[in-house]
Amino acid sequence: MRQAKLNLVPHRWRTSPPNILQSLLAVQAHLGYVPTDVAPEMARALQVTEADVAGVLSFYPDLHLRQAGRHRVRVCVGESCVANHGSRVLTALAEELRIGLGATTPDKRFTLERVYCVGNCAVSPTVVIDDQVHGRVTPSDIPTLLSPYK
Ligand code: FES
Repeated sequence: MRQAKLNLVPHRWRTSPPNILQSLLAVQAHLGYVPTDVAPEMARALQVTEADVAGVLSFYPDLHLRQAGRHRVRVCVGESCVANHGSRVLTALAEELRIGLGATTPDKRFTLERVYCVGNCAVSPTVVIDDQVHGRVTPSDIPTLLSPYK
């Protein structure tokens, strides 16, 4: 069973108070995502409630509940980006990738997500592909933007 193979909470992280986020990030680093069924075992190991684990899991957008594609395409939906037509960029990306927000392409290459402000407001709208931040993105830029990742 998956959980038996994972050391969900390495001894060095059994701190007081327990570091739930670091433990969840370790699971994600190992599996590529955090299956929700790790919550009970992690709660027992850290001596917290399952609600504590679930709360951290649902709060941090960088924790993924499903296996993501090889490339994460994140569209900023912060104020500045929305004001500068970021929703058009999001629509263009969804059309180009033929998936909806939160989905992964059938070939597991791309996952389309939203993000709330990455500090690139001065050149919004912003798209982040993996760790690359792109500013002043227009819908017509999308094919060129994605081409290195295809
Ligand atoms: S609102 Fe999009 S980068 Fe700040």
